[in-house]
Order: sequence, then structure tokens, then C-alpha cells
Amino acid sequence: MSLETIILAAGKGTRIKSKLPKVLHKVGGKPMLQHVIDATKKAGSSREVVIIGAGAELVEKKISGVEFVLQKEQLGTGHAVLSAREKFETSEGIVLILCGDTPLLTAELLKKFVVAHEISNCAATVLTAEMPNPTGYGRVLHEADGTFQKIVEDKDATEEERKIREVNAGVYCFDVKKLFGALERVTNDNAQGEYYLPDVLPILKSDGEKIFTFAADYCDETIGINSREQLAAAERILRQRKTLELMNSGVTIEDPHTTFIDVDVTIGQDTIIKPNTYLEGNTTIGIECEIGPNIRFVNMKVGNRVTAQFSYCHDAEINNDVTLGPYVHIRPGTKIGDKVKIGNFVEVKNSNVGKGTKLPHLQYIGDSDVGENVNIGCGTVTCNYDGKTKYRTKIGDNVFVGCNTNFVAPVKVEEGAYIAAGSTITKDVPKNNLAIARARQTNIENWTDKRK
Ligand code: UD1
Ligand code: CA
Repeated sequence: MSLETIILAAGKGTRIKSKLPKVLHKVGGKPMLQHVIDATKKAGSSREVVIIGAGAELVEKKISGVEFVLQKEQLGTGHAVLSAREKFETSEGIVLILCGDTPLLTAELLKKFVVAHEISNCAATVLTAEMPNPTGYGRVLHEADGTFQKIVEDKDATEEERKIREVNAGVYCFDVKKLFGALERVTNDNAQGEYYLPDVLPILKSDGEKIFTFAADYCDETIGINSREQLAAAERILRQRKTLELMNSGVTIEDPHTTFIDVDVTIGQDTIIKPNTYLEGNTTIGIECEIGPNIRFVNMKVGNRVTAQFSYCHDAEINNDVTLGPYVHIRPGTKIGDKVKIGNFVEVKNSNVGKGTKLPHLQYIGDSDVGENVNIGCGTVTCNYDGKTKYRTKIGDNVFVGCNTNFVAPVKVEEGAYIAAGSTITKDVPKNNLAIARARQTNIENWTDKRK
């Protein structure tokens, strides 16, 4: 059966106190709304309609691959769903409804939930969870015979009802026709003056329909993020989940508590991650690497058997068998070839560094193409910028660059050339030439005696 989904993401997110729409706040390096969308798609949804309102333009800009519906005024979750009615005029079967602020939901749970609804033959199924601290959630009330009665919101609950720990996770399956048939009858006669989506359930019940509740095994998955405190709690759970998943796939993580790995990062078998390491965005790391301590990689493509410590690298590629660090900054557009040795105190930007080349200490390499097996001496700088334009430095294979060389770009050094230490290279150097570009030394005899 094809599965269509509505995701509610129009709310102001008052309690998170932010200019950024709540659903765009990131956990595990990804906006929480994106987590919900990804899980939904993975669970087999064929179409996602996202209800937007507060900060709608920004949400549309940051999120793709879904349909949007604007809820002009945020009058409650029931009103939000109603604003998508036109989009479901011709739909039949099941609609899955979720909130954009429950980023820990997994595709596995959603799949189980949808199957449970399908076989229940009910008009609606609600996902519930047993929360150790249920404050803020809607509580699930049952009839004396154990069947579903209604959901009462925290703000509307009596003291007795507030003690109930079975909560509404904000995830529902509905028969789409029956949902929209009943939704118009929801009123806003409650503590918040809002049209609550859960209020459609007792209405369906009064129509003679059956409502099913499906309990999640772990309450962790169903946490809703309303505050920064809950955001941090979700971050911690996601991080734990990610490190556990990696360890189970054959990655050593020496100290999961000080290792921060975004959800979309991939790491190969037998790689060791040392403490204080941050692997962010769409970083991929190969097999048998040793990463850390103190590494921050953002959107990095890293090969196999790379050793890296005490460094920050972003939006770049590092091939196999590279030794990196300590104290290296690799900036966007850089490609580091196989077996390169790089660090201490080296910055490389928008450059290609060929196989086997050594950049061992105190270099700035910017907008450069460095060949294979090049040895670059300590303190070498590419002078790539004249205040207006950036220029490239090209260094051929097997070049030897003496210490403290400046390359004033644009400049080209052909293969096999040799640059004397302390040179400022302003002209191209032909193949196999020696270039010396520094003032000759003069020694003045008895100078110190004369000074006295
Ligand atoms: C909601 C449920 C509550 C449940 C909890 C689970 C209602 C009335 N309450 O409460 O029973 O336990 O989720 O996390 O549904 N939204 C809109 N338009 C609106 C209002 C909200 O799109 O007019 C969106 C929000 O952006 C959010 C979601 O709906 O993603 C839930 O809204 P929120 O205000 O967070 O509801 P809760 O108070 O958490
Ligand atoms: Ca919420």
C-alpha cells in the first residue's frame, strides 16, 4: 500500500526561544525536520507534505525533496493538518502524521507502527510511549475496559491526569478520508485556545470508529524537542546511537563520551577514533585509520590508513596512507594525494598535493598544484594574493624547495628543479635548474672591533 505522510513544522517553537524556526535546529549535525523526513522516507513513505508557517521561507530553502503547505496562522496541530486537505482530496488509504520536532524516531519503529495500524483495522492508531518525565506531553486516557478514550494535553490535564506517564508521541496513522471528515469538527475550547489534532480521535470514536494505541518499546525514540534542554538531551542520545552503531560495525572508539560524530558520517572497519574528535557533515573515513586525538573534520573525504591528530580540516579530500598533524588546517578545495606527510603547523587551501610529497613544517600552500615527491622546506609560503586577485603556484614532480622560500604567484617551477633556501621566487624555474633568489652575503672584517 502506498504511504503518504504529513509532517507538522509550522509552529513558532516559542519554548526554544530562537530566531531560527525550531525544526531547523540541528541535532547530530542535521536539522531535526530533516531527521523526521529521512526516517519517513526510509520507512517507505512515497510522498511527504510538510506544513510550514513560522520561518516558512527559511524552511523551504533548507529542506528539499518534499511538498510544502503554508499554514498562515498557527492555530494548532489540528488546524495544521486541515490546511493540507486539498493535497489529499484524491488520496485513499493511510496517511501517516508526524511532528517535525521528534528527530529520534527511527524508520524501523515507523515501519512497525504502520504495519500495526494496517492489521488493526482501526480508523486511527496513535503511537504512545512510557515517559519517565511526561511533563509537556499529551497524556493517554483509557476507558475502564482498556480501550482508548482520549488524549489530554499537559496544560488541560488535572493533577491526577498529569501523573499518567503514558504519553502521545505525536505520531498517528489515519484512514485519510475519515480523518478529514472528522477534523472540521475539532474545536479550540481548551487552555491554549488551539485546534488540537489529538481531539479528532474521540470524534472518530463517537462516529463508531475504533482507535488503536501502539506503544513504542523505548521512550528515547519518541522524545519531542520543545526546549534547548531537550535539544541537548536528543543530541546526547543520537551521539550515543551513532557511536554504538559504528562500534558494532567494527570501528574502535576509545572514548564515546568525548567523540562527536554526525549521523551521516561513515567510517571503515578497524579505524580507531581517539578522544576529542569531531566528525561532521558528510565526512567519510576509510579503513584502518587512526583519527585523533583532537581532530575536527567537516565534510571531509578521507581514504584508508590515514593517521591524523590535532587538526582541523574541512570540505577537502585526503587520500590513502597520509600522515597529518599535529596542527594542520586543510581548507576547502584541497586534494591531498597518497602517502603525503603534512604537519606541524601547515595550512593548505584550494590546492592539489601530489603523491609522496612532504610538507613537514610551517608552510602556507594556497591556490597551488604541487607535484609528486616534492620536498617543501620549513617556512615556505606561496604568496597567492596581491590584494585583488588570487594566483596559482605550480610546482612539478621531484622538486626540492629549500627552507623559507616565497613563491610569488603566478609562478611555475618545473620538475626536478631545486630552490635554494631563503629564495623569493618571482620567475618561472625551468626543469632541473637551481634557482637562487636572495642577496649575496657580505662578511665585513673586524667589524665588531671598529664598532667599539
Ligand atoms: C504535541 C501534542 C501532544 C504530544 C506531543 C508529542 C497536540 C495538541 N499536542 O504537543 O499531545 O504529546 O506533541 O511531542 O498536538 N505545529 C504546526 N502548526 C501549529 C502548531 C504546531 O505545524 O499550529 C507543529 C509544530 O511545528 C511541531 C508540532 O506541530 O512540529 C507539534 O507542536 P508542539 O507545539 O511542539 O506540540 P506539543 O505541545 O509538543
Ligand atoms: Ca513538541
